Amino acid sequence: MLTLLAFGALAAVASAANSWIVPGAAWMSTSNTKIDAHGGMVLKRGDTFYWVGQAASHSVQPYMYTSKNLLDWTPCTNPQNPIQWLWRPKLAKPNGSFWIYGQVDRNVQALKSSSISDNYAVAGSKVTLPPNAYTYSDTGMFADDDGTWYLLTSADHNNVQINKINSDGSIGTRVNVLAKGAYEAPGMFKVGGIYYLIVSGKTGWRSNPNQMFWTDKLAGGSWNGPYPIAPEAQKTYNSQNTFELTVVGSKKTTYVYMGDSWDSKGGPDSNYVWLPMSVDTGTKKVTLDYHAQWKLNAETGEVVLPSRKRRYEAEHAVVEGRGVVGRCERCLNRRGVHAADPSAQVTFHNIIGLGGPQWVQFHYHVANRTSGEAHISVNDAPAVNISAMNHRAGYHHVVPVLLDLKSGGENRIVFGVSGEAGVVLEGIEVVED
Ligand code: GLA
Repeated sequence: MLTLLAFGALAAVASAANSWIVPGAAWMSTSNTKIDAHGGMVLKRGDTFYWVGQAASHSVQPYMYTSKNLLDWTPCTNPQNPIQWLWRPKLAKPNGSFWIYGQVDRNVQALKSSSISDNYAVAGSKVTLPPNAYTYSDTGMFADDDGTWYLLTSADHNNVQINKINSDGSIGTRVNVLAKGAYEAPGMFKVGGIYYLIVSGKTGWRSNPNQMFWTDKLAGGSWNGPYPIAPEAQKTYNSQNTFELTVVGSKKTTYVYMGDSWDSKGGPDSNYVWLPMSVDTGTKKVTLDYHAQWKLNAETGEVVLPSRKRRYEAEHAVVEGRGVVGRCERCLNRRGVHAADPSAQVTFHNIIGLGGPQWVQFHYHVANRTSGEAHISVNDAPAVNISAMNHRAGYHHVVPVLLDLKSGGENRIVFGVSGEAGVVLEGIEVVED
């Protein structure tokens, strides 16, 4: 009988160097702490990326991390300021200082520092923006190519406003407003002279199909759209927009969607969904390119996918209990193991490991996610629910999790299910790069 453990037991598996961006999986910092920077953004200065966000495990204080490769993030001296409940902090440099703008008590609060990554002090009182009767929920940030910074706010009364940030750091004129429905979590990027604005619906911490609007004129231009940026049923791959990062590389410019994969209350179990976007400048169609595991070459700007994987088919593993090898139309070789109930168990023997933390992709389909879920055990360690390691468990048919594998071919991975989720296991792929 397997015992199930919660996430805590797994944190130890993190490696010092991250090799991949894995949407939905716990993302560890170089200090082996879970990166806690939600509703935030990334700003590049020189060759360094700065990631600021709200720390869910520290009363929603602004936390910051730095990285050169968008994979390994080193915590700065955090919090950036003891201020609490400052939601969705965004970073800007409209003058000689660095500024953080976030939402406090449904108004906009600014913080200021002479250094990008520490010592932010509260700058002035929190403000409402014109029209003054409005209060706000979420913030966004956009810097245009002429160096002007814009604060995006989703005002109550269902307006998403775009205000210029003045050269003294104060919030200036409202240059545009999107008044086309109940939207929040705004983020904007620009390609070929077109401004693309992503917003989410207002469904609290539950994900919804985030929408795209676009205009060719920021000041006063009218908005085209909306259309969903991912298949509607995927609910933006179970995430909510927070920022769009443009990475200009030597070979390619890549646009990255940064979303939060919230837990049920925006708490510390929340993760991230970052995905590259494809942009069709002709039709103005932007789509999230889903990858279970990917990274960006920060120098060339190119998207990189795993290239060395060892695949182990479920039907060649040891199948016990009410596990049945049978047809699986959606499986690569049309066969899989149907795990009918918790007695079913699939054991993969002789898995080759490199020694240390390694990403292992579980390929399985779930018919009824609310009726149960899948768990795994590695080399006789207590079993762990896959969902505790990756929020995409049950939602996507490729779920990478970071496991500790021994060097050599002696590893054993046991896959089982709880409840009656209707799981069909196709196999596993052990990533070697
Ligand atoms: C939405 C907002 C978040 C937060 C939650 C609270 O998800 O985007 O910033 O306010 O609602 O329910």
